[in-house]
Amino acid sequence: MSGFPAVRPRRNRSSAGLRALVRETSLDAGHLVLPMFIHEGPGSKPIGAMPGVSRHDLPGLIAAAHEAHGLGIRAVALFPALDASRKDRLAQESVNDQGLLQRTVRALKRDLPELVVITDVAMDPYSTDGHDGLVEGDCIVNDATLPILAAMAVSQARAGADVVAPSDMMDGRIAAIRSALDQAGFTDVAICSYCAKYASGFYGPFREALDSAPKRGDKSTYQMDPANAREALRELAQDEAEGADWILVKPGLPYLDIIHRLRQATALPIAAYHVSGEYSMLKAAAAQGWLDYDRVLMESLVALRRAGADLIFTYGAVDAARQLRVG
Ligand code: PBG
Repeated sequence: MSGFPAVRPRRNRSSAGLRALVRETSLDAGHLVLPMFIHEGPGSKPIGAMPGVSRHDLPGLIAAAHEAHGLGIRAVALFPALDASRKDRLAQESVNDQGLLQRTVRALKRDLPELVVITDVAMDPYSTDGHDGLVEGDCIVNDATLPILAAMAVSQARAGADVVAPSDMMDGRIAAIRSALDQAGFTDVAICSYCAKYASGFYGPFREALDSAPKRGDKSTYQMDPANAREALRELAQDEAEGADWILVKPGLPYLDIIHRLRQATALPIAAYHVSGEYSMLKAAAAQGWLDYDRVLMESLVALRRAGADLIFTYGAVDAARQLRVG
């Protein structure tokens, strides 16, 4: 008994109406998080390796956030690009309540209170070593990093962050941050844990944007080995036990299997980070006339949703939201 000719999968594809009715995966602007770069300015400065993305000064960032919000984007993730003079070994600028990031969060929450503001917790933008944790000799030390991250998260919450997102991959940081936030009275500030963050070459353009590349060594003693999938389940179990509210997989497209595995294993919301290098690849090929940027962007985002992501951090959020508006 062969199904054909009674069974014809093409029948469900035979018109736009039918295709829309049987579509399994939705994508709308409300699923997207726009990552944004802020610098002292004045003005905005394009990032060479990320065409269409700039480091904004505060007025530019507020204007861009208004535009994104007007297109239905509900959240932004902020990354500060600091002057070298503000960096030190201990990342002390990260707890300056008058610092660039904190001022930006306050201004955004004043201007657009309903926009969800997500802040990154890791030492690298603030550290002269360019690592996410504290460097001692050749080591990125875990336990001594935890109070630094916890204090950073509290300073961000005090400025008004709705969600803090530790991207550092130290062990135990979710518990340390949760207890510091709770002790400071921020029981409603959520934690988006970068749960499965891989030691990836796809972060290259981001490090140019923040001038945050490690000065020595690489991040492979804390970020995950791209060859590992089971290990992501260990990270998940740990983050769930420590009180993470969302978990995040990063990069996105090369790790669809990880998103899918975590989707089977957790009831927590999952975010995927379509990272700088993934965005830059699409832009670079489109600039050569080799790919249709709008089309491959939407395909990439639908694929991340199909794999199991609830939310997607993407530099293409505004481009995608515009296309979704047009329909
Ligand atoms: C670092 C951090 C990185 C990104 C977000 N937070 C880079 C890194 O780990 O070196 C990468 C984002 C991107 O590439 O878009 N804490």
